[in-house]
Amino acid sequence: MTARVQQILNHMSTNEMNGVEAELWKGVPLAPPDSIFKLTAAFKADTFKDKVNLGVGAYRDDNGKPWVLPVVRKAELILLNDPALDHEYLPITGLPEYTAGAAKLILGTTSPAIIEGRAVSVQTISGTGANHLGALFLSRFYKWNCAPRVYLSNPTWANHQAIFKNVGIEPVNYPYYDPKTIGLDFTGLINALHVAPVRSVFLLHACAHNPTGVDPTREQWGEIAKVMLEKKHYVFFDCAYQGFASGDLDNDAWAVRHFVEKGVPLLVCQSFAKNAGLYGERVGALHVVCANKETAERARSQLSVLQRSEISNPPTYGARLVALILTNEKLFEEWKRDIRTMATRIISMRKELHRLLTEELKTPGTWDHIINQIGMFSFTGLGEEACKKLIEKAHIYLTNNGRISMAGLNSRNIRYVGESLDRAVRGEL
Ligand code: LMR
Repeated sequence: MTARVQQILNHMSTNEMNGVEAELWKGVPLAPPDSIFKLTAAFKADTFKDKVNLGVGAYRDDNGKPWVLPVVRKAELILLNDPALDHEYLPITGLPEYTAGAAKLILGTTSPAIIEGRAVSVQTISGTGANHLGALFLSRFYKWNCAPRVYLSNPTWANHQAIFKNVGIEPVNYPYYDPKTIGLDFTGLINALHVAPVRSVFLLHACAHNPTGVDPTREQWGEIAKVMLEKKHYVFFDCAYQGFASGDLDNDAWAVRHFVEKGVPLLVCQSFAKNAGLYGERVGALHVVCANKETAERARSQLSVLQRSEISNPPTYGARLVALILTNEKLFEEWKRDIRTMATRIISMRKELHRLLTEELKTPGTWDHIINQIGMFSFTGLGEEACKKLIEKAHIYLTNNGRISMAGLNSRNIRYVGESLDRAVRGEL
């Protein structure tokens, strides 16, 4: 065969293949980009010099730069210089020192669930992986009363919907945020708990609610726990921001610990992305609190089966760093200081934005929610149109529900953001 004939044959078969390929994937609908990560991409591509990213919930320092926590730098050096470190597989459920430390951090060192051996802890691919594994576990083993369904706060982190749908659990909303008060719709929430069929599954944000920054008070948490018990509901806690709400790890775990103490059946999804600044390391955990040790062992065996078929065993690096910080007293104290640094800077940004809008610019509307809301985000109350204008005209990136990541503000850009918000509210952008 001449080279020319071979060339023609190759060309034909490639064309035929292309035809088959085209046919094969013809029915795949084009999905919209992720609502949060598309903002990061658009921000990066923007050449405007005063652009501001208030989209993704990732901490930035006062220079607008990602912050590697000093304690993490120290832990990294210790790991790097440890001659005993190898690159073996971890057990399926993760690094034992890490999962044990993570459980104590969220449930408390004296938690009865830990002491009685009825908390099962599995290392996961950050908080998203914990949500997924928890949802998958429920989809297989929960004693559903009706078709599998999870109640999510309205609004919630957009990814919750997708995570539950992926495992065949239908997401439905419960009232949470009241746009009239820009606060918690507590009556609506309690009512939803009463109305839902017994043994329903409710996802609750353990602290620093994403996206609203609105949390129940301790008294309200107490009421919620009571109804959960009365109705035999199951609580699916998502805890991605421990330390970010109050600057104190124990304070922010209060709701989870209270529910455990009261005997509400629950699991907790935990992430170290935000509070340890370990976004890319994907270090998280799922804790399933069971009624007794025997049930816990059965749950552990099934979680291991699920984990093995999906990721085999979790990655080492982030877990080793966190384990080191959690088990070394000095490092642990330093970590708490780092968390306070982040929380304090965010609080000072809240105060300054509030001052600008209310005292200096006299922006129409009430803005007290900026200082009353807690954690990484503020739910500004801005409509979709105003958000679009802020992105297109002012190069300030925020999600279209009006959520802004307070960590994206700093002493250099806060005036520009305040003035742009003011113009957006007045319809002058
Ligand atoms: C956010 O809500 O911005 C963060 O939790 C990042 C993410 O994964 O969406």
